[in-house]
Amino acid sequence: MADNVYEKYGLNDAVPRHVAVIMDGNGRWAKKRGMNRSMGHRAGMERIRGLITLSDRLKIEVLTLYAFSTENWKRTAAEVGLLFDLIVEYFIREIDELCENNVRIRVLGDIAPLPQKSRDALNAAIERTKANTGLILNLAINYGARAELTRAVNALLSENVQSAEFDDIASRLYTGGLPEVDLLIRTGGEKRLSNFLLLQAAYAELLFTDDLFPDFDEDRYAFCIKEFQQRNRRYGGV
Ligand code: FPP
Repeated sequence: MADNVYEKYGLNDAVPRHVAVIMDGNGRWAKKRGMNRSMGHRAGMERIRGLITLSDRLKIEVLTLYAFSTENWKRTAAEVGLLFDLIVEYFIREIDELCENNVRIRVLGDIAPLPQKSRDALNAAIERTKANTGLILNLAINYGARAELTRAVNALLSENVQSAEFDDIASRLYTGGLPEVDLLIRTGGEKRLSNFLLLQAAYAELLFTDDLFPDFDEDRYAFCIKEFQQRNRRYGGV
C-alpha cells in the first residue's frame, strides 16, 4: 500500500533522523480528570504506540523516549513501582507487534537497580529485537545525562587513556553509534531539558508543547515534525 502519510500531514521527506521525547504531564492529565497519577501514566503509555507508528512510517531512524530519570526515584515507592510495572506490561502486550514492525529496542540508562521482572522484560525485548533493522526505539530508563557522561569518562579512564577527543566520549555514551538528536520535544508545558541527552542534543531543535503527554497523539506529533521542517538549521554557520 502506498503510504501517503507525508501528504496527509504536509511533510517533506527531510524528516529528523533522531527524535527524542520528554513525556511530561501524565500526573496533571490525571488530576484534571479527578483520577490518580497512575492512570495518567497508563494513559501516557497508550500514546507510545502512535509515536512509534508515525516514526516508522516517516522513516525516522531513532526514537528516544524518557521513561524514567535518575531523579524520578524521589517519587513515592508506589509510583516508582507502578512505572516499572507498566514497562513489564507494555512489553508483554506489544513485543510481538514491535517485532513484526522490525523495531529494535535499546535501553539508555542503568537498569541494574530495577526490579528483576522489569529487567527481565527489558533484556528479553532487547534480545528478541536485536537483529531488527527498522526503527530504533531507545527507552531512557534510570537515565540521566550527568550519570551517562560520568560513566563514559570512567570507561575511558579504565582504558588508561591519556587524552580524549569528543568522539571518544560520544562513542561511550549509551547512544554510541547512533545519530545525534535532531528534534527534542517536551510535552507538558515546562521549558527545560531535565538532564536528558544534553550532549546528544547539542544542535537539536527544541520544541516545547503545552499538550499533556496523554493528549499527544499522532496528529500532534506530526505537527511537531512539520514545525521542525520549517526551522532553519545552521549549526553555528551563517
Ligand atoms: C512525566 O509525567 C512522566 C514520567 C515520569 C513517566 C513517563 C512514563 C510513561 C509515559 C509510561 C511509561 C511506559 C513505558 C512502556 C516506557 P509527570 O508524572 O511528571 O507529570 P506531571 O508533571 O503532570 O506530574
